Amino acid sequence: MRYVSLLPYMWTSEVSTAVVGLVAPRGGERVVDLGSGMGPATVVAAERGASVVAVDPTPFMRRILGVRRLAQSARRRIAVVEGAAEAIPVADASVDALWSVNTMHHWTDLDRALREIHRVLRPGGRLVLVDEDMDDPAHPFHERFARRRAGRAQHFEVIDPVDVAARLRRLGFASADGSLEPVAGRPARLVRGVRG
Ligand SMILES: C[S@@+](CC[C@H](N)C(=O)[O-])C[C@H]1O[C@@H](n2cnc3c(N)ncnc32)[C@H](O)[C@@H]1O
Repeated sequence: MRYVSLLPYMWTSEVSTAVVGLVAPRGGERVVDLGSGMGPATVVAAERGASVVAVDPTPFMRRILGVRRLAQSARRRIAVVEGAAEAIPVADASVDALWSVNTMHHWTDLDRALREIHRVLRPGGRLVLVDEDMDDPAHPFHERFARRRAGRAQHFEVIDPVDVAARLRRLGFASADGSLEPVAGRPARLVRGVRG
């Protein structure tokens, strides 16, 4: 059970709460939490009145969030669905905002994922992508993470946020910026954009 030591952090996290703050979902908006995991951002956004489609490819994660959802007063505004960045199970231009926290490094086809994000966002839709930068020695999990990564065969891609933003602009985003900057005080790779 490799997630056990990370469980408290995957349940609730200041980074996820900060990302929801950056996205600023409004009541009644339809939003996607891409790679929602156990739902630290999903539950915050639903509490704020957004309807959240929580997309994750891992059955274990969906099961946990499915059970967690039942305990939420905002549960009617949460749908937990199978999918991935490379195949987002929502209709074209049907989403007001999309975010993803700590999943970009798992994506197996960056261009396909970005095309999917562009497809599902409506014109004017907001995007926030954050991967905590655990390669930065200033990150509190830096050493622990290096040990975990060395011992695992899981797909792990180091994402360049400036490059991701350039790809988004080429796809037709009206604006897209990528940077290395702290989110909730932690070093992070941050991409923000608005679909044209
Ligand atoms: C480190 S967890 C982060 C979960 C959650 N966003 C959070 O901040 O706690 C990584 C998540 O990415 C999901 N994931 C893996 N491959 C993915 C893909 N190709 N597209 C979207 N999510 C993916 C995993 O199932 C897992 O739930």
